[in-house]
Amino acid sequence: MEGNPPRESVSSAAPNFHYNQLTPMSIVEKFVTMDYGPAPEDPREAVAWLDKHHRRFGHFINGAFQAPLDGKYFDTTDPSTTEKLAEVAQGSAADIDAAVKSARAALPAWQPLSPHARARYLYALARQIQKHSRRLAVLETLDNGKPIRESRDIDIPLVARHFYYHAGWAQLLTQEFPGYEACGVVGQIIPWNFPLLMLAWKIAPALATGNTVVLKPAEFTPLTALAFAEICQEIDLPPGVVNIVTGDGSTGEALVAHPDVDKIAFTGSTEVGRAIRKATAASHKKLSLELGGKSPFIIFEDADLDSAVEGLVDGIWFNQGQVCCAGSRLLMQESIADQLIAKICDRMNTLRVGPPLDKSIDIGAIIARVQLDRIQRLVDQGVAEGATCWQPSIPMPSRGLYFPPTLLSNVHPTSIVAQQEIFGPVLAAMTFRTPSEAVELGNNTVYGLAACVWSESINVSLHIAAQLKAGVVWVNCTNLFDASCGFGGYRESGYGREGGREGLLEYLEPSWFKNAPQLHPRPLAIDQPPAQLTEATADSATPPIDRTVKLFIAGKQARPDSGYSTEVRAADGRLLGEAPLGNRKDIRNAVEAARKATAWPKSTAHTRAQVLYYLAENLSQHREEIATRLADVVGRNQAATEVTTSIERIFTYAAWADKYEGSIHNPPFRNVTLAMQEPIGTIGIFCPAEVPLLGFASAVMPAIAVGNTVIAVPSELYPLITADLYQLFESSDLPPGTINIVTGRPPELLKTLAEHDDVDALWCFADAATCATAKSLSIGNLKQVFTNEGRSIDWFNPAQSEGRFFLQHATQIKNIWVPYGE
Ligand code: NAI
Repeated sequence: MEGNPPRESVSSAAPNFHYNQLTPMSIVEKFVTMDYGPAPEDPREAVAWLDKHHRRFGHFINGAFQAPLDGKYFDTTDPSTTEKLAEVAQGSAADIDAAVKSARAALPAWQPLSPHARARYLYALARQIQKHSRRLAVLETLDNGKPIRESRDIDIPLVARHFYYHAGWAQLLTQEFPGYEACGVVGQIIPWNFPLLMLAWKIAPALATGNTVVLKPAEFTPLTALAFAEICQEIDLPPGVVNIVTGDGSTGEALVAHPDVDKIAFTGSTEVGRAIRKATAASHKKLSLELGGKSPFIIFEDADLDSAVEGLVDGIWFNQGQVCCAGSRLLMQESIADQLIAKICDRMNTLRVGPPLDKSIDIGAIIARVQLDRIQRLVDQGVAEGATCWQPSIPMPSRGLYFPPTLLSNVHPTSIVAQQEIFGPVLAAMTFRTPSEAVELGNNTVYGLAACVWSESINVSLHIAAQLKAGVVWVNCTNLFDASCGFGGYRESGYGREGGREGLLEYLEPSWFKNAPQLHPRPLAIDQPPAQLTEATADSATPPIDRTVKLFIAGKQARPDSGYSTEVRAADGRLLGEAPLGNRKDIRNAVEAARKATAWPKSTAHTRAQVLYYLAENLSQHREEIATRLADVVGRNQAATEVTTSIERIFTYAAWADKYEGSIHNPPFRNVTLAMQEPIGTIGIFCPAEVPLLGFASAVMPAIAVGNTVIAVPSELYPLITADLYQLFESSDLPPGTINIVTGRPPELLKTLAEHDDVDALWCFADAATCATAKSLSIGNLKQVFTNEGRSIDWFNPAQSEGRFFLQHATQIKNIWVPYGE
């Protein structure tokens, strides 16, 4: 291997060692230089496997390899040499259709299999993967360019672990998830950075929960997925349960668009994630997205710096930095910055870049020319924006696609290299002074996938971990993964988790919800004829006609910005009062108030429970008057039941507030993983129209019980309920801004809420068209959307309308990995 001259060196503090020196070295010298000879892995078995298939692969559909219907193939190459490895089929819409039909046909037999039978299939897959592990590792390295050390010691063992772990869940499924059923046919689209591992993360939970699958591997790395297809044949997995269609983005698009797919699971770029979100908005397809990241690697002055540097090597140079959770932003406490940079440069000088099949190589090849060019372009842009670029003077291979390990220092927090995912071996370094500055910088991107915190103080580490907006936080460790610990992002890094109990929920739905009938577009849940109603309410405390309510923002009644209101009428047409016509400005004020209401998310679960009990108590005291007013719209019977059930519902969430807890995982490392249930943040809620009081209680209470703040749009049927509600809030110690209520024209309010980048989630309980609008308007910041999919929910039935189903949508799990031992 020949050394290329380094691209650019600003300062080279550490000496430059060549590992192919000819003069023999003493043992001490070897320790100092960490010099090794080449140790090439024998690729013959993997090459023989390619040859067995004549280096040409069709799609795997209905248990057999099939030529593409339009006969098109494309090449897959070895990025370390750019030589062609094989040809694979380019999947068309017709191929996708055949695969989806095969998956659909396999479902009726696969779904009702006994848990034990499904567990045995998953177990057999795990065993067979282990049997072929070396061949799979070599194939992965050939196709992807990652060091064999990583594919052999990390990727493939984790693949087997995922199938073992999920074999266990298949066995326990009906005991642990009563009342849930599989989504059905699942479309899965995976990237090229961990080809077989991403396949395992997707296929294992899908099969364990009784789904059938159509998976599309990335166009750069299809080979191990095809080897997995063969393993499915070897273990006699029923045909059609797993289908693999190869191809590029257009094949993925066809899978996303197919009308008979029930769920899409995607890992890849945020840009494509957004496109998929848009493409699925108008459908009932369930969606999970694992997208990009720009994860902070935070080192405090009291950290064990040598360990931190080793962690950093793993954090940013693992898999050439082509890792969604790569620790690509180094945040150093200012007092140790110079010392740390010197140590990092020293260590970078010992990194070995070269042929990935060499077992002593640290950094292998970049996946493709387009990616290599992209990395270079972003580095150049970072330098143009003021960053200092340093690369070690180490030998570089003369052919293949390689990029040297790169350190960018003096990076401004707004620079493109501090904000955008580079997906290459490039570290962007910045400094901070105080812990709060570290948190602020750490959270200063649109992403929220992972973070590392290095400090010898467990108090500081956990305090920082709790404040970081990230789905995974590694304390004094990095890039640890296990099937038992969920992985997934906050914010624009996506939503949904892979792994753990929560990962299974992505492939399951409550049976009642899946099979619920569609909601009638404008339901009027009147249980008494209007004439009777009028009679019944004639001598009651019906409010005078000029009753006008206000908006409720930041704990205060507020006039609408527009200065207009709209009439609200009883079921018999009588004018009941006027509701304000809130507009965009009112929504913005409400969002600002909800954002500022930090007292509520910071309050203890016990405090939140107390406030909710108090709310229920106050509602109980005013039950008669509220029921009387509500009766004008929904009838006496429903009104009375709504009030009684609402009191119960609020009690339910008061009870949950201090009981919806996380868990502690025991991955097979010297670690515990704390799976914390965290609120999502600020949630916009469109309450169901048909049950004005109960709908509000059912939708808003679970959100606030776990510490979210809310902007609620009450029932359009009876927005006057707002006045009753804010009287309750004012007398119940609810901190200002926790719940804000804006009434008005639903389409305008929905649009503003959906498009607002400071709203973290949108809940919408309405007809199918409104739900689809909510989903398609909110793709900007990829906010999480929870809707009834236009289905009818029986709000009076607690089995449907309260409990974990709602709480799961109100929270996101953060996994904090904490090592133990000396
Ligand atoms: P990508 O997001 O385009 O590709 C991921 C998968 O999606 C591939 O299987 C691809 O064929 C498929 N795909 C592409 N367009 C699609 C569409 N419209 N509908 C459905 N499926 C589609 O990622 P790409 O182009 O390979 O890499 C570009 C950048 O994305 C990288 O530089 C990196 O920043 C980021 N990336 C992030 C990953 C992560 O794990 N977070 C993984 C791969 C890439």
